Amino acid sequence: MKAGLGVSALAALAGLALGQNAITENSGNFTLTADGMSYLFHVDQASGDLFSDHFGGPSTDFTPPAQIYQGGWSDGLTNVRREFPDVGRSDFRLPAIHIQHADGNTVSAFAYQSHEILQGKPSLPGLPATYGEDADVSTVQVTLYDNYSDVTAVLSYSVFPKYNAVARSFQLHNNGSDEIVIERAYSFSADLPNLDLEMIELQGDWAAEMNRVKRKVQYGETGFRSTEGYSSHIHNPFFALVSPTTTETTGEAWGFNLVYTGSFAATAERFSHGFIRVLLGLNPLHSSLHLAPGDTFTSPEAVAVYSSEGLGGMSRSFHNLYKNHLSRGVQTKQTRPILLNSWEGLGFDYNESSLVTLAGEAEALGIELFVNDDGWFGTEYPRDNDTMGLGDWTPNPAKFPDGLGPYVNDVNNYTVLNSTSKLQFGLWMEPEMVNPNSTLYHEHPDWVLHSGQHVRTLTRNQLVLNLALPEVQEFVLSTVHRILDSANIQYIKWDNNRGIHEMPSPATDHAYILGLYRIIDNLTTTYPDVLWEGCASGGGRFDAGLLHYWPQSWASDDTDASNRLTIQLGTSLAYPPSAMGCHVSAVPNGITNRNISITYRAHVAEMCGSFGFELNPSELSAEESAAIPSIMAEAHKVNPIVITGDFYRLALPDETNWPAAQFISNDTNTAAVFAFQQKATVKPAAPPLRLQGLDPQARYWNSVDNVTYSGATYANAGINLPWATADYQSMLVWLYKQ
Ligand SMILES: *[C@@H]1O[C@H](CO)[C@@H](O)[C@H](O)[C@H]1NC(C)=O
Ligand SMILES: *[C@@H]1O[C@H](CO)[C@@H](O)[C@H](O)[C@H]1NC(C)=O
Ligand SMILES: *[C@@H]1O[C@H](CO)[C@@H](O)[C@H](O)[C@H]1NC(C)=O
Ligand SMILES: *[C@@H]1O[C@H](CO)[C@@H](O)[C@H](O)[C@H]1NC(C)=O
Ligand SMILES: *[C@@H]1O[C@H](CO)[C@@H](O)[C@H](O)[C@H]1NC(C)=O
Ligand SMILES: *[C@@H]1O[C@H](CO)[C@@H](O)[C@H](O)[C@H]1NC(C)=O
Ligand SMILES: *[C@@H]1O[C@H](CO)[C@@H](O)[C@H](O)[C@H]1NC(C)=O
Ligand SMILES: *[C@@H]1O[C@H](CO)[C@@H](O)[C@H](O)[C@H]1NC(C)=O
Ligand SMILES: *[C@@H]1O[C@H](CO)[C@@H](O)[C@H](O)[C@H]1NC(C)=O
Ligand SMILES: *[C@@H]1O[C@H](CO)[C@@H](O)[C@H](O)[C@H]1NC(C)=O
Ligand SMILES: *[C@@H]1O[C@H](CO)[C@@H](O)[C@H](O)[C@H]1NC(C)=O
Ligand SMILES: *[C@@H]1O[C@H](CO)[C@@H](O)[C@H](O)[C@H]1NC(C)=O
Repeated sequence: MKAGLGVSALAALAGLALGQNAITENSGNFTLTADGMSYLFHVDQASGDLFSDHFGGPSTDFTPPAQIYQGGWSDGLTNVRREFPDVGRSDFRLPAIHIQHADGNTVSAFAYQSHEILQGKPSLPGLPATYGEDADVSTVQVTLYDNYSDVTAVLSYSVFPKYNAVARSFQLHNNGSDEIVIERAYSFSADLPNLDLEMIELQGDWAAEMNRVKRKVQYGETGFRSTEGYSSHIHNPFFALVSPTTTETTGEAWGFNLVYTGSFAATAERFSHGFIRVLLGLNPLHSSLHLAPGDTFTSPEAVAVYSSEGLGGMSRSFHNLYKNHLSRGVQTKQTRPILLNSWEGLGFDYNESSLVTLAGEAEALGIELFVNDDGWFGTEYPRDNDTMGLGDWTPNPAKFPDGLGPYVNDVNNYTVLNSTSKLQFGLWMEPEMVNPNSTLYHEHPDWVLHSGQHVRTLTRNQLVLNLALPEVQEFVLSTVHRILDSANIQYIKWDNNRGIHEMPSPATDHAYILGLYRIIDNLTTTYPDVLWEGCASGGGRFDAGLLHYWPQSWASDDTDASNRLTIQLGTSLAYPPSAMGCHVSAVPNGITNRNISITYRAHVAEMCGSFGFELNPSELSAEESAAIPSIMAEAHKVNPIVITGDFYRLALPDETNWPAAQFISNDTNTAAVFAFQQKATVKPAAPPLRLQGLDPQARYWNSVDNVTYSGATYANAGINLPWATADYQSMLVWLYKQ
């Protein structure tokens, strides 16, 4: 290095300079600037309201608003674009904030009071959120005040210039002397101009998560919600708005994602003038949050991303923002151990010695982490099936006479094949749940979510503990602390297998989620070396809220590798592949009865940060067993690029017979291309597989053709893969820059 600053110091300075200019204010005009995005709004001098000016590609000036004919019923605030619409005062559209005051009226009149621009980003009390250093992110906090009802709203906008992302949230403070009730609190709200847009969301159900659904944003409301108490399989708290011509690689895309695990609502409301109001936040059906005098409500955070490079660009902004500035566990950027889960092999029917035997069989395959699934606990109500035991987190003495400690030591005593490491041990838990058939429920029937005398409806024979109650939070904390302190447990699969039905009040859902965050914040802080994996009957809580605490989540209970392509590529719209847990399971598949080769099953699962197996090794066929060593070697080779590389969807399973996806290493020298053929075809031939993101001038060798081509050739001409005439074929093609 020559005299002066090193490369990293220079980069930091450049980042700082960028950060300092990322937010400016001029006579009430606010400009948030990212590398390829601008977000502009201003204070309307007449009303004190905040008006939306622009959210999209770079724009350095404030231009006059659209001319709208004034007259008839629609006038005043209905005809402008607003940042924080409240109720009353002529706006006929849906509000972002809806407060019921002590006298029953619901009008608000928030007006600009002051603002503060700061480097970095303050954390949100009790809530998951993006974070960053001064050089990574800049924040402006705008204080609005309603002096009729003495309520303060502090709107927070944080811009991450490298990711074309704005994170928004707000705090509401009751300065008055009466309680108020928050009926509706949307974390993100802005009015886009009259644009022709389509909404893409991720819709699904159990074992069928994350299907892309696209529809036109029509006049009226286009939206969806979860009322399940959790983010849910049915709709994910994410959507994109795109122009009709946007593709994976070109065109404008706006992505919106709520950093939250509870019920939510998402809406795009198009009004007569064509403006589109974008709203994302808590579900109003689960709001009615009471705010006492002097108290403050903090909304969850919503992240908005703009891309001029299609949906792929939008997804990579989310992925890299989340890997670098949301998911905080040390494992986020580390390769993950290859695991084997006991469920498919043994179900509930096991004891210490059969588990140690299974662990030995796993170790002989090269497995690094053995996960003991459901069935290990319960004394008076032994967990031998799903009718009893949840809540009684004491090892079942019939299965573990000496508790977990000696058993885990036996598992740890195995040395991983071809390695000097010991086999790690992981445990399944479902700490938020209880079976009525349990000691816990008999002692504390009042600890479950319920509504007065109404029936406590069961799902999977279980009820949900009321995590809003401090004593229940303490119970869960002390239980998990006790288990983790009792043995050398290096991984926890935290499951959650039903939605929320009856609650004491609509506001309990948010209080529950705050309780959950308090618990897992404590646990991940106390046990930073434990690898936590979220699971909710598959992808029922695959959301950015839990991703803040837990680096990975089980993507779906559907392990059919063909269906999984839809689920995993759908999930990747908002969430990084490095955060997905994906396993090879036995054939024929338990849900779909499909028989897909182990190579294809492994290729699909290798595209995720956490790769593993969910089968009984002793039941592998000779053909499958023979394939295992090369699968293990490949999984180890590909994991670093999945964890730290950039992800490109090349072709979607619901649009072509030849879906494909690609990772590029963070030094851009290596690419791994996963390609699939769903069905054998006589005609037509597979289209050329065109790659993305490579340096057009550089030359890359590829492992299929055993030759080098330029990046431009890969992008434009593409490569033709030698597919066999057979169903469910797959290939992993490596490219190395020369
Ligand atoms: C502020 O924005 C308005 C448009 O909303 C524009 O007319 C005005 O010139 C801007 N003022 C400054 C100082 O940028
Ligand atoms: C504050 O409220 C008073 C009436 O109580 C009103 O006259 C005044 O204009 C309000 N100020 C703002 C900024 O809305
Ligand atoms: C409202 O209360 C907050 C918190 O105590 C205080 O900072 C703010 O100045 C108050 N606003 C008004 C207008 O009294
Ligand atoms: C454990 O389970 C295996 C397989 O079911 C059985 O053969 C063995 O006797 C059991 N051991 C004990 C101690 O119960
Ligand atoms: C569940 O397990 C318990 C305890 O082993 C047993 O008594 C009960 O009969 C089982 N129930 C079902 C439905 O299998
Ligand atoms: C660990 O395994 C070895 C055999 O690999 C055995 O000799 C030894 O007794 C085991 N140690 C414990 C503590 O189980
Ligand atoms: C309690 O367990 C028994 C035995 O498995 C089962 O038949 C019953 O349905 C369970 N009760 C509830 C409420 O799940
Ligand atoms: C975690 O919770 C336990 C039990 O309430 C408490 O003793 C401990 O201080 C908490 N630790 C952290 C890091 O919050
Ligand atoms: C799955 O297909 C393979 C290859 O055709 C065959 O060898 C195997 O027996 C099949 N397995 C099952 C369980 O049908
Ligand atoms: C373990 O090492 C042996 C000898 O190098 C090799 O043949 C085998 O494929 C390796 N197994 C795995 C799972 O890596
Ligand atoms: C790039 O990836 C390698 C592993 O492939 C990792 O060691 C390194 O930390 C990564 N660098 C960044 C900046 O993420
Ligand atoms: C790849 O090409 C090189 C150079 O032409 C040749 O030496 C080598 O044998 C080829 N490898 C395979 C597996 O075809």
